[in-house]
Amino acid sequence: MRFALSLGLVFGLALSVPAAAATGDQAPFKDMHWSFEGPFGTFNRADLQHGFQVYKEVCSACHSLNRVAFHTLSETGGPSFSAAQMKAIAAGYKIAAEPNDKGETVDDKGNALTRPGAPADYFPPPFANEQAARTVNGGALPPDLSLIEKARADGARYVYSLMLGFAQKPPAGFKVPDGKYYNPYFIGWNIAMPPPLSDGQVTFVDGAPNKLADEANAIVTFLAWTSEPHLEERHHIGVGVMIFLIVLSGLLYLSYRRVWKDEH
Ligand code: HEC
Repeated sequence: MRFALSLGLVFGLALSVPAAAATGDQAPFKDMHWSFEGPFGTFNRADLQHGFQVYKEVCSACHSLNRVAFHTLSETGGPSFSAAQMKAIAAGYKIAAEPNDKGETVDDKGNALTRPGAPADYFPPPFANEQAARTVNGGALPPDLSLIEKARADGARYVYSLMLGFAQKPPAGFKVPDGKYYNPYFIGWNIAMPPPLSDGQVTFVDGAPNKLADEANAIVTFLAWTSEPHLEERHHIGVGVMIFLIVLSGLLYLSYRRVWKDEH
């Protein structure tokens, strides 16, 4: 009896003490909520446009966005830039040119031939190939960001937490090797990406607030759209289907009443 009691006590204690987070486990993500979440969610246009600016001015130095075509920037459901703004954005990028009349893709000096971007083009990558990307980034590969928020669990909250996570100090005794940065939201805690955002890093064209949290919110919204460009359309269809089903249920109920009216 005594033995059983003390055994129960030991087990009870073991269960009630939460397991301490092991070194390198991802910290719980910051609790954020966005307008694009939930069955009726839509994107905030201003956040999408600001997020595009954050990508262009900061992230695109290292990360490609190779599933996004310029023309989608002016489509409904996205950042909704005007057609003229979108064309100007596209033309501001240099795209690897198709072979010229002589079949060349490089000039006399060996530099790649380029042409201005057109609406049908995709965002060009910052590095010529994986090798070049790794060389510049201390051996690590900056992933393509087009689908990153779908590729990671709880993607929006993850990317947001990651952007804000550089400010924290590593626990005593935790080693951060040269060329790595402590970020408790990254698995293993040591990330090869230098802190990309800080207060005032990006000056938004409309003068909107640009604290670190505003910039992070903008890029998270923009990358939620690149991960799911037809989210709003899908939600609209969903709402239409729900309304249809509700009306149909009402009609079915009325016809049921009518059919059975005389049987009661
Ligand atoms: C100076 C280059 C550089 C810039 C600028 C940069 N990154 Fe990175 N990023 C990296 C590298 C390198 C990695 C890979 C890290 C690793 O594997 O340790 C990475 C990884 C990531 C990851 C993936 C983490 C994972 O789970 O694999 C995300 C998300 C990310 N960056 C987002 C961004 C965003 C958003 C911006 C712009 C605000 C940005 N990065 C700007 C270099 C950069």
